[in-house]
Amino acid sequence: MSKVLIATVKPFSAEAVEEVKGIFKEAAYEVEVLSKYPDQSDLLTAVRDADALIIRSDKVDREVIEAGKKLKIVVRAGAGYDNVDLATATEKGVVVMNTPGQNSNAVAELALGMMVFMNRTGFTPAAGTELRGKKLGIHAYGAVGRIVGLIAKGFGMKVYAYDPFVDPVIIKNDGVVCEDSAESLYCKCQYISLHIPVTAETRGSIGYDLLSSMPEGATLVNTARKEVIDEEGMKRVFTERADFRYLSDIAPDCREELEEKYKGRVFFTPKKMGAQTAEANLNSGVAAARQIVNFIEKGDTTFKVN
Ligand code: 3PG
Repeated sequence: MSKVLIATVKPFSAEAVEEVKGIFKEAAYEVEVLSKYPDQSDLLTAVRDADALIIRSDKVDREVIEAGKKLKIVVRAGAGYDNVDLATATEKGVVVMNTPGQNSNAVAELALGMMVFMNRTGFTPAAGTELRGKKLGIHAYGAVGRIVGLIAKGFGMKVYAYDPFVDPVIIKNDGVVCEDSAESLYCKCQYISLHIPVTAETRGSIGYDLLSSMPEGATLVNTARKEVIDEEGMKRVFTERADFRYLSDIAPDCREELEEKYKGRVFFTPKKMGAQTAEANLNSGVAAARQIVNFIEKGDTTFKVN
């Protein structure tokens, strides 16, 4: 009998867990749920006899993979898999997958929600500003970026995008202006919504040069990863420009400093919550469960990332 471990520090909704359990019951798999675990050692213990592992942003490093002696597959229920040591997984013959697109709408709604919240002065009675007519630059036009563009158009924003990995025809067919460099995107748009993954190339890539080139009213919205920001460069922009604002679902390391010095110009969610909706939990949890069953029963490696 195959055993699946669902290890999520940030738990799925109860409905999602029930649905996922149902899929594994039908496949006659054993399931263990380890949520809100206080220590990484709990994961190391629980993974010992698991054939398959479902995670979210949970850290799956060499230690975890080596502890999982029977482990065959890890599915990151979500998009970004920078929390998984792919090299070790590959070395140990463990398949790693993500569930692209399953939580995208939730993240996209939060990106626009934070923009509205900031523009309406944190929902205080003070006069705010509107999104209509403003230019939004989408940096990386994947599943989330595309939905951000769609919603932004509903707000009457002018939408631009830059993504060297997406065919410009796809971007243009969505009625979005396709830019051919990050530089040309940032220097045109008051709002930039970040959707790049963290990789060796993107780490610290959003810094002074790009941010200081943004027009008056510059607002950076980050629902991707904090590591893509060069925080020193961003802090310099804050000191030089009174109009610059930063909204993020992944608080920067310099959170306290920014909150203290630039009140009203920054907003950080208390805890990363972009994908934390009932719908996103259900979609990504169910997709992860189905991918595991299809892999174990049929060897299906769709969505393999290593
Ligand atoms: C993702 O990469 O899918 C998002 O960042 C959501 O991450 P989470 O599952 O930890 O909320």
